[in-house]
Amino acid sequence: MAVYEKKYVWSILMRIFHWCFALSIATLVITGLYINWPWTNTWMEGSHQFTMAYMRWAHFIAGMIFTCAVIIRIYLWFFGNKYERIWDFIPINKRNIKNLFTTLLYYAYITDSHEHRLGHNALAGSSYCLTLILAVIQFITGFYLLYPESHFWVSLGSIFGTQQEARFIHHILNWYFAWFAVVHIYIVIWNDIKSPEGLISSIFDGFKFAHKEH
Ligand code: HEM
Ligand code: HEM
Repeated sequence: MAVYEKKYVWSILMRIFHWCFALSIATLVITGLYINWPWTNTWMEGSHQFTMAYMRWAHFIAGMIFTCAVIIRIYLWFFGNKYERIWDFIPINKRNIKNLFTTLLYYAYITDSHEHRLGHNALAGSSYCLTLILAVIQFITGFYLLYPESHFWVSLGSIFGTQQEARFIHHILNWYFAWFAVVHIYIVIWNDIKSPEGLISSIFDGFKFAHKEH
């Protein structure tokens, strides 16, 4: 019988980040798509309902929460616990490069052997880093659209071109986040079924289970 040890992996701040990020993205994708294509417009706008105004308001509130979450996670890249720090999972050393390839083979059903890690595997970790970098671009373009008269946001946002160009980038990234959510939820469920380490519950209570060495 396999014996498991309970280990504390995700700090409270990391878990707060996760759920603020996940829930704000769900809100931002729905309200963002509404701003782009107001599907109720012809029958609701112009009445007392103010649907577009409420959608924009929800988008901006969720946008503020999203931005705070992203800043918290970047802080944890450098000052979090050892599983949360960026160098634990990005493929810049031999251990992580090897893990990146074995995880790819494992996910492609080519091998069943893989390294059991308490933190992120290198493939997941790299995709989370990319997501965080795109999240920074998303909030810069978002604030550029929101405050077209702010010197700070205009000088930062102009890196991405005119307002229209920034809006286009903001729109394309919307689809990245929407697809990321779908693929991510699929992969965490797949992993939770394949290896009994309590992956999903770890993002709620912070604990994972590791094989106990004899
Ligand atoms: C039912 C919903 C969800 C569940 C059960 C879930 C579960 C998890 C778990 C278990 C991890 C840790 C995975 C690991 O150790 O590699 C994780 C990480 C992560 N999740 Fe989710 N997730 C959910 C929804 C979302 C959504 C909607 C998003 C955003 C679109 C998201 C973004 C992330 C990110 C960015 C990380 C990495 C955290 C880091 O920076 O280290 N999650 N999630
Ligand atoms: C994952 C995060 C986000 C997603 C998925 C998202 C999605 C979208 C989408 C699809 C649009 C419509 C653009 C178009 O017409 O094609 C939009 C507009 C906009 N978003 Fe976001 N957004 C996000 C984050 C943010 C943030 C952090 C802010 C900053 C507060 C923001 C502010 C805005 C503004 C100001 C507009 C234009 C509203 C208007 O013209 O009425 N967004 N967003």
